[in-house]
Amino acid sequence: MNARLDEHQIMSGKQEKAKYIFYFLALGGLICALPRRQDNESNKLFNGFCRTTRRTVEFGRTYVVKPKGRHQATIVWLHGLGDNGSSWSQLLEKLALPNIKWICPSAPTRPVAILGGFPRTAWFDVGELSEDSPDDFEGLDASAAHIANLLSTEPADIKLGIGGFSMGAATALYSATCFAQGKYGNGITYPVNLRAIVGLSGWLPGSRTLRNKIEGSHEAARRAASLPILLCHGICDDVVAHKFGENSAQYLSLAGFRYLTFKSYDGLGHYTVPKEMDEVCNWLHGRLGLEGSR
Ligand SMILES: *[C@@H]1O[C@H](CO)[C@@H](O)[C@H](O)[C@H]1NC(C)=O
Repeated sequence: MNARLDEHQIMSGKQEKAKYIFYFLALGGLICALPRRQDNESNKLFNGFCRTTRRTVEFGRTYVVKPKGRHQATIVWLHGLGDNGSSWSQLLEKLALPNIKWICPSAPTRPVAILGGFPRTAWFDVGELSEDSPDDFEGLDASAAHIANLLSTEPADIKLGIGGFSMGAATALYSATCFAQGKYGNGITYPVNLRAIVGLSGWLPGSRTLRNKIEGSHEAARRAASLPILLCHGICDDVVAHKFGENSAQYLSLAGFRYLTFKSYDGLGHYTVPKEMDEVCNWLHGRLGLEGSR
């Protein structure tokens, strides 16, 4: 097994090309390397645990990048599976967005079903990446609440947003759906006003039931229609398929998230490139009405 266990690597080349290789690259190897029987057993054990025990999750360390200029917006940025807030904070710090404060939390370490129950930092449990896989709404709600909590202490005149990569993008999109509905999946009131959502190489959890939930409420439809969302996805993504990102964009748009931009990148796999981050910068600058010209 030559699986790599660190989620990503930063390769700095002549063009300062930062290439984030996702931990999922290791998954194929890891899961295949586990005997089938053991794989099933660990899943059973974990599912049983979920049903009978209320999970207590402990989130990891949070890294904050202070704005270099006047503080106008705060964005919580969420890492991918197996990663932590530190690596993204280093990348975000270098972006030409001096008016944004970045908050980069780290996910709880938990057994992840797609890894055969192997513990890794993850925003929620994930079994398989398909539209038919059951979603871990308990885990999603806990993470969405942790993120909203981080934003809730920002001053009232600061615009708030959530972004993320891969599973972090999925959590950001889930938060967007909670914001629109005014409540988490568990019915508790969603406490903050979101102004921008960015999802890179991600997907939308709970996509199939979203439309009914939004269409059922006038307020939810209004909030969905007014929340700007930027989705970016590499055409060559071999971890979260491009089609999957595209479908998520379609589900969101059908559910009434009309203020949505979906960008595809030729030749891009499950990582980010400066061209994509430039798009994120320009988009945030425009949507959040940040000062200064670009
Ligand atoms: C955070 O993740 C990086 C790899 O992405 C790793 O090198 C580093 O040790 C991790 N830091 C912590 C505190 O876990």
